[in-house]
Amino acid sequence: MTDGGQARRYGPLGTVLVIIPTYNEADNLESVTARVREAVPEAHILVADDNSPDGTGKVADELAVQDEHIHVLHRPGKQGLGAAYLAGFRWGIEHGYGVLVEMDADGSHQPEELPRLLTALKGADLVLGSRWVPGGRVVNWPVSRRFISRGGSTYSRLMLGLPLRDITGGFRAFRAETLKGLGMDAVASQGYCFQVDLAHRAVRAGFHVVEVPITFVERVRGNSKMGRDIVVEALWRVTVWGVEGRVKRALGRRHT
Ligand code: GDD
Ligand code: MN
Repeated sequence: MTDGGQARRYGPLGTVLVIIPTYNEADNLESVTARVREAVPEAHILVADDNSPDGTGKVADELAVQDEHIHVLHRPGKQGLGAAYLAGFRWGIEHGYGVLVEMDADGSHQPEELPRLLTALKGADLVLGSRWVPGGRVVNWPVSRRFISRGGSTYSRLMLGLPLRDITGGFRAFRAETLKGLGMDAVASQGYCFQVDLAHRAVRAGFHVVEVPITFVERVRGNSKMGRDIVVEALWRVTVWGVEGRVKRALGRRHT
């Protein structure tokens, strides 16, 4: 848990927008949106689809016609998770939502846990759903995938000096005010490294970041988009940020 220093007073949350980025999730979308609508009926949903070849965008349009709480952002092609979220955040802020949620489409993030994240956000700037704090769990992940995820979080924590356990996770709730303070226009991360980037920016900006345990359930349908390129991007960016931070601190010490 990080703190800006003094105890803060938090305003009301406002309307919630759950952003769901999709690439080939046609078999998962209906179920996940129905579960969100049931778990948090007042929330709205924005599907950010990268022109999925399997027709996810069309499924999303059909759901949006039936339900005025469901919206669709069609993007021209696969540009990565980071770009889809940035476009979704901008859309949500333009439309006046007070809370922007990140959630995967494949059922790994359980909509039924969303109320707990939102409750925690009443006293925080950013809430991370966390697999690697007491009470957090992962169901059906092979040892290799656990190793990559825990290793990625540990490396980022040490390299960037972040007091967080699950830095790469993608089940999160932001206050709109927090996102406005993160300098989103400068974010270049494309893949899952985007998650590290935003957590790092939030801590550096002095925001109060809280981790809430979640149970992550590996997808049953469709395929993960995680690949070597995504791991490589995360490794080199985190290393560059870590070295930059150290150089800046060393120079700062010399000048004072
Ligand atoms: N629009 C869009 N564009 N969506 C994408 C893209 C893309 O290029 N790549 C992935 N997605 C969507 C997927 O369709 C899914 O809804 C979500 O992003 C997560 O993708 P998965 O491929 O299912 O991720 P994962 O299960 O391997 O990874 C999980 O762990 C990562 C590391 O901890 C997720 O929780 C990630 O958010 C997390 O960073
Ligand atoms: Mn997944």
